[in-house]
Amino acid sequence: MQFRSIVMGCGSYLPERVVTNAELAESVDTSDDWIQTRTGIKQRHIAADGELTSDLALAAAERALAHAEVDANEVDLVVLATTTPDNTFPATATKVQYKLGMTNGAAFDVQAVCSGFVYGLAVADNFIKAGQAKTVVLIGAETFSRLLDWEDRGTCVLFGDGAGAIVMRAANVTDQTAAAEVGCERDRGVLSTHLHSDGSTNDLLYVDGGPSSTQTVGHVRMIGREVFRNAVTNLADIAGETLDANGLTTDDVDWLVPHQANRRILDSTAKKLGMQQEKIVVTVERHANTSTASIPLALDEAVRDGRIQKGDLVLMEAMGGGLTWGSGLVRW
Ligand code: UT7
Repeated sequence: MQFRSIVMGCGSYLPERVVTNAELAESVDTSDDWIQTRTGIKQRHIAADGELTSDLALAAAERALAHAEVDANEVDLVVLATTTPDNTFPATATKVQYKLGMTNGAAFDVQAVCSGFVYGLAVADNFIKAGQAKTVVLIGAETFSRLLDWEDRGTCVLFGDGAGAIVMRAANVTDQTAAAEVGCERDRGVLSTHLHSDGSTNDLLYVDGGPSSTQTVGHVRMIGREVFRNAVTNLADIAGETLDANGLTTDDVDWLVPHQANRRILDSTAKKLGMQQEKIVVTVERHANTSTASIPLALDEAVRDGRIQKGDLVLMEAMGGGLTWGSGLVRW
């Protein structure tokens, strides 16, 4: 049998507390003007004390399951992309699995920082294609604020907390009618995923702590300008690689849903790709950079406000610490 992964529904969750640039400027040497001009960010959501990554993830997963009209008992795999697990172990995904009331299947975390959601998409898609999972909840969730050095203005103004999720289901495309539709407009599901990493660039974006090195959690450190330069190149390249692999062009894409790190990165990538601004889903001004949660948060917003429709071709792409980068092309 041959399977494809269909996206059945999506959901997201943002913590209640909104922190504006002006509020940050009261405690850090920065300004609303600097943050908006350099990044496009106006505000970010920050998790409440005691509100954990698993809480955000659970809320997003529940909303995605409701949207997909799928019962938690039907789920046989939870993949949670996060860089900010509740604990070093167990995997935060197992907490979400338990709280969803799931009694079967497996749950694990994926760690690729801001690229986590596209890495998770590749993992989930391959589990489905291999016949090892039938219904998957894929979540991107972060309490990234907990990794920030609030005295480092070069990083603390950039990030926020949040979570997003999708429900994916195996569709049997073994029969000839369905197989003949692969790649055409009626053909839904994950068309391809593409992953890259380059560990020689670890030091451009990392956390200066960890259980094995310092036995502390550590704080985010970044050489922003270098990360920016790599992001524009890698994101344009991976979009090209993805479209080439499917025999498609930029014009075929209905929606680009990129990782939301910086408005200037989105604009530069779009320019390199020759993509119209109106086709890009942008949330960075309200969410800031929520790391692995940024793509599913943007997806959910664009699905719920009616921009992304069934049958639309959606290109997701992200780059983050590692450096890691990747993409997923999905017929919604
Ligand atoms: O999600 C994972 C991937 N992450 C990213 O993609 C982030 C990529 N990088 C960026 O988005 C940008 O590089 C930043 C937004 C982080 C920085 O923008 P930039 O235009 O590259 O600024 P810069 O780092 O070159 O700094 C320019 C100046 C510096 O001052 P001097 O040395 O020119 O006097 C910084 O000290 O801006 C200063 N600066 C600030 N000023 C006010 C840095 N941060 C701030 C701040 N407020 N928050």
